[in-house]
Amino acid sequence: MTRSLKNILVTGGAGFIGANFIHYVFNKTDFSGTIVNLDALTYCGNLESLADIEAQYGVSAGGKARYFFEKADICDRAAVDSILKKYNIDTIVHFAAESHVDRSILGPEAFAKTNVMGTFTLLDAAKNYWKAEDGTIPENFLFHHVSTDEVYGSLGETGYFCETTPYDPRSPYSASKASSDHMVMAYFHTFGLPITLSNCSNNYGPYQFPEKLIPLMILNIKGGKNLPVYGDGKNIRDWLFVEDHNSAVWTIMNKGTTGEKYNIGGENEWENIRLLEKLMEIVAGELKMNLDDVKKTIVHVKDRPGHDRRYAIDCTKLKTQLGWKQSVTFEEGLRATVKWYLSSTDWVNHVQSGEYTKWIDKNYSAR
Ligand code: NAD
Ligand code: DAU
Repeated sequence: MTRSLKNILVTGGAGFIGANFIHYVFNKTDFSGTIVNLDALTYCGNLESLADIEAQYGVSAGGKARYFFEKADICDRAAVDSILKKYNIDTIVHFAAESHVDRSILGPEAFAKTNVMGTFTLLDAAKNYWKAEDGTIPENFLFHHVSTDEVYGSLGETGYFCETTPYDPRSPYSASKASSDHMVMAYFHTFGLPITLSNCSNNYGPYQFPEKLIPLMILNIKGGKNLPVYGDGKNIRDWLFVEDHNSAVWTIMNKGTTGEKYNIGGENEWENIRLLEKLMEIVAGELKMNLDDVKKTIVHVKDRPGHDRRYAIDCTKLKTQLGWKQSVTFEEGLRATVKWYLSSTDWVNHVQSGEYTKWIDKNYSAR
């Protein structure tokens, strides 16, 4: 079955993966409908990442707008209810979350609020909207929930996470995402809400907030700053280029079976320290820096509490049932990402100075 998607609500569209998703759908698919980006613009929500989309498809572009932004919190039931109605939404793709593990250790409350209560609020609003008072059900209504491989816990030296792996979250972040996954499944089984769910491995690419490993290291190497490696640096992550994640999400939204969950991964495992060596080589090469000097800036720091040792995804189900596959090699993706961070000086400077938070006032104040 292929769904017909018309008016899509993207939550968290001003974040890293959400902004890339909106670019992907407008630039790389034949989608002809409308996208509504609902985002609270927390510290990592950055509308500047969508300036080109706003200029081409937004309200200010003239002509019939196909991209709309709504500043709202997913915990705000009244706002969510009104946005679903206002845009006649038939599809929700839910990216909005608190996403950084280190922050969940320092301040778990925001994670419980947004990831648990926010997802609940969105689900319940969707259920009520889906079963509208006049009894109508929007054709092909779908709630796609974007989740993480971290819900499965930590692997030893061998084995892979598959869709049937029992949940075993270890950090407040992964526990909050696990809780949201369970709530999504509960709304399917109990209320018949049409859902699909995906659990993805580590993403990298443009527009990622530079608190996460890859952009942090690129910018620290460039700035001659220390490169903080947690513990022995031998923790393993499975890296996927963000556009490949989004093509998987798009495939599931279009062709996935209602009520099913799908793993998404890069099949690309790297120890953190090996990945850092690769990054140092690429960045030093691009900037003509002395690689031996760069290597001296590595600092082994105190380990992250509860640091999961290894993640590795088995995404056979998605590949065999829906025909998805990765299209970008790690070498290509990493080089493209490094080039993007080194050349996107306005975006980087505005994030580092905090000026990105003013984009909304400068560009939406006239409305
Ligand atoms: P991000 O932190 O870059 O972006 C999150 C976005 O959500 C931001 O724009 C933020 O403003 C918005 N937001 C936060 N709280 C909100 C609220 N209460 N109401 C409305 N908007 C709110 O995150 P990301 O890395 O783009 O991750 C997106 C999703 O993908 C998350 O659900 C995350 O768990 C999941 N995921 C991320 C990765 C990864 O490697 N980054 C991998 C697998 C899954
Ligand atoms: O696996 C999917 C998850 O990947 C997503 O659900 C999360 O939203 C996303 O943030 C990411 O979580 P990680 O904790 O794996 O990503 P992070 O970039 O924070 O760290 C990657 C690895 O690098 C991890 O083993 C910790 C280590 N690290 C990280 C930072 C920021 C360091 O050694 N030094 C650092 O400074």
